[in-house]
Amino acid sequence: THAPVVDVLGSKYGVGETVTVKGWVRTRRDSKAGLSFIALHDGSCFDPVQIVALNTLPNYNDVQRLTAGCSLAVVGTVKESQGQGQAVELEAVSVDIMGWVENPDTYPMAAKRHSIEYLREYAHLRPRTNVIGAVTRVRNCLSQAIHRFFHERGYFWISTPILTASDTEGAGEMFRVSTLDMLNIPKTEQGDVDYRQDFFGKETYLTVSGQLNVETYCTAMSKVYTFGPTFRAENSNTSRHLAEFWMIEPEVAFADLSDVAQLAEDMLKYVCKAVLEERADDMAFFAERINKDVIKRLESLVSSDFVRMDYTDAVSILQASSKTFEFPVEWGVDLSSEHERYLAEEHVGAPIIMQNYPKDIKAFYMRINDDNRTVAAMDILAPGIGEIIGGSQREERLDVFDRRLEEMGLSKEDYAWYRDLRRYGTVPHSGFGLGFERLVAYVTGMQNVRDVIPFPRTPGNASF
Ligand code: 4AD
Ligand code: MG
Repeated sequence: THAPVVDVLGSKYGVGETVTVKGWVRTRRDSKAGLSFIALHDGSCFDPVQIVALNTLPNYNDVQRLTAGCSLAVVGTVKESQGQGQAVELEAVSVDIMGWVENPDTYPMAAKRHSIEYLREYAHLRPRTNVIGAVTRVRNCLSQAIHRFFHERGYFWISTPILTASDTEGAGEMFRVSTLDMLNIPKTEQGDVDYRQDFFGKETYLTVSGQLNVETYCTAMSKVYTFGPTFRAENSNTSRHLAEFWMIEPEVAFADLSDVAQLAEDMLKYVCKAVLEERADDMAFFAERINKDVIKRLESLVSSDFVRMDYTDAVSILQASSKTFEFPVEWGVDLSSEHERYLAEEHVGAPIIMQNYPKDIKAFYMRINDDNRTVAAMDILAPGIGEIIGGSQREERLDVFDRRLEEMGLSKEDYAWYRDLRRYGTVPHSGFGLGFERLVAYVTGMQNVRDVIPFPRTPGNASF
């Protein structure tokens, strides 16, 4: 005869067992019967554990002074709970108060509902809240699932550099790196080099994408991916742009656009399924508090095929729609987020893989299609957020690539090493970039990417 097994802060215990838990007080209420109920959380899962502290505890007077944020180590006996709201509780044998909250009136995370904007001002304390705790667990689940997905398929994770001289996307949205030490060198000793702006004499930037670097490993290791921080010095103050965000960039040799479109679909399904299975507690919270459709949306993503659509057809659909857009649509323009959202939310109602964009609105490395005016590019557009993935087949033909460089006014010398990949055993290859924060926002239903990264970096905002 075994005692029933129950969950306490994410661990399994038998009823009647004596256990130690450590964490932070979320709430405390006292009953007239001479006992206190404390909700204690430690971040491991959504639900806190209820501690029942009886007035027979030697420090019961102190227990009655506990407020939100105090840290405790509690030894207690696991009991099935009589009360509402929780199946189990711990009857305290001892309550060791480790850290007081010096003035409960000034504690910014007092137990009440705070606005998400208010929480942003407390990036150091907001992980203690329900919502940021849930985001953090889902974000972790997604990153583990992404690594697992690629590992199971034989991909190698390549660490690409953060400091670089190349502007991968060619959009000029680079942060320039300078060496602070050199600020003190007298101008007369600097010679021709402006040390104040350069990294010991070489123009250096923070990377916007690991793609060009990872292509070199792709053309040797076949299946590779990056997962790291990337930087964009664009002055975009929107709910889907960050100056520093994380990107996952698989690159596959001997693969064409439709191969990596399928890879992207398989990956998104795999990671969304992992969240539904592993973080049901947090997803129930997001459905209740943030977006009631968020679970349904993931379930249907996992179970139905993504719609594939050509850019040219999308333009016709937008032109034929009765909706008036702020930016008019004609063939050749970049789709704006209102267009992307209309297509994904109203026209299809599910993620879309948009393919074959005009070459003039896309990057220099994308493979030119036979029509000579479009490139083998794809974006994945998700309801509620728009573009979450951008990718393409890469131009592997040296002569075509050189013509494109020339057309775009880029120099062969700057791309010498990249051209070598086309000179020595060139192969068709393709890849894409997944914006990690946009994925986390999509999965959780959170409205703003600033709330799904621990320390958001936006124009003018780099405190903490
Ligand atoms: O479309 P992008 O610019 O593509 C690339 O960087 C390619 N080198 C990827 C590749 O083919 N290997 O960016 C890829 C994704 C976007 O779809 C978007 O999800 C995200 O990165 N992204 C941003 N996320 C947050 N804040 C920003 N400022 C972002 N810019 C792009
Ligand atoms: Mg893009």
